[in-house]
Amino acid sequence: MKNNKLHSMVVGLGSAVSKKILTNAELAKIVDTSDEWIRTRTGIRQRHIAEDGMVTSDYAAQAARIALKHAYVSAEELDLIIFATVTPDMYFPAAACFLQEKIGAVNATAFDISAACTGFIYGLSLADGMIASGQYKNILVIGAEILSSRTDETDRGTCVLFGDGAGAAVVQPSCDNRGIINTVIKSDGRLTHLLNMPGGGTMYPPAKAKDNPEKYYLKMEGREVFRHAVTKMGDAAAEIIEQSGISGKDIKLVVPHQANIRIIEAVTKRLDVAEDRVYINVDRFGNTSAASIPLALHEAFNAGKFTKNDLILLIAFGGGFTWGSVLMRF
Ligand code: ACO
Repeated sequence: MKNNKLHSMVVGLGSAVSKKILTNAELAKIVDTSDEWIRTRTGIRQRHIAEDGMVTSDYAAQAARIALKHAYVSAEELDLIIFATVTPDMYFPAAACFLQEKIGAVNATAFDISAACTGFIYGLSLADGMIASGQYKNILVIGAEILSSRTDETDRGTCVLFGDGAGAAVVQPSCDNRGIINTVIKSDGRLTHLLNMPGGGTMYPPAKAKDNPEKYYLKMEGREVFRHAVTKMGDAAAEIIEQSGISGKDIKLVVPHQANIRIIEAVTKRLDVAEDRVYINVDRFGNTSAASIPLALHEAFNAGKFTKNDLILLIAFGGGFTWGSVLMRF
């Protein structure tokens, strides 16, 4: 277990999604797929899609306001905003700066991080370190995406998987033995080619968009991603459990990244955790990347799936590849 004196805890949660829902049956009218294929291969029944004109920081602001209220923290009291996303409002400035303005967090420092579906885990880990440094007292960690803006409606291998949404957590120094116990974050840059969005950066700048329109959409080698996701998420969970000197049985709730029900089942089979202690909402939201864990965590909290002092394990995997886990006592 960590032995730093100042450890951090999540004191408020929030989430937001659009009211606009895209069902599998509706997708089957656009692309060659079926409700049956999507449900049996992924567990997804529907996903929320951003309303026209809405940008990522809009949903993030909605989630942030709920989390701040839950934490009894005002926007002015925030001293740091960490915004995890791969679909920011603009290439720059940071989505965190747009959010800062929207919620009126005038005293915060704000920046983005890019770790795809592991973004929220990276954000929490970073917040934990910032709290331990003693420099920050009220940190807002956001995971938010509008992946529908970067999915190719003609690619049935990806367009059925993703949804839009935002989740938020307020992190403060802990005043007792509750809070973040351990974090594990990892990456492997040898595997960038298996999951990426090539266009828009220096490799495929806008000047090349006309010749390579397909490069501006998310690309994925589904089978390979699946294989690595199962192994790496399982490893991240096993490592944090071992480091923390606990067993799977001690965990009240596992909140895994919601990419695919088959990935979640394969990962949690490796842990000694009962099925009813694994939170699943991929059926209603699809894969919302960095938003997936905070969305699920907020929903699980509202549903009374965990309470004060319960041990919670978060695990994620995403493009990079990146992966990681957070163990906390709520
Ligand atoms: N509808 C119907 N058929 C389809 C569809 C679809 N939507 N998509 C693929 N198929 C077909 C394929 O063309 C293939 O047909 P073929 O056998 O005639 O060639 C067949 O179904 C099987 O395709 P596979 O890709 O092998 O299907 P698989 O069982 O692997 O499921 C899936 C595909 C769902 C994408 C899976 O591989 C997966 O979930 N991968 C991981 C995704 C993930 O976890 N991403 C996380 C990170 S995302 C991030 O970081 C932003």
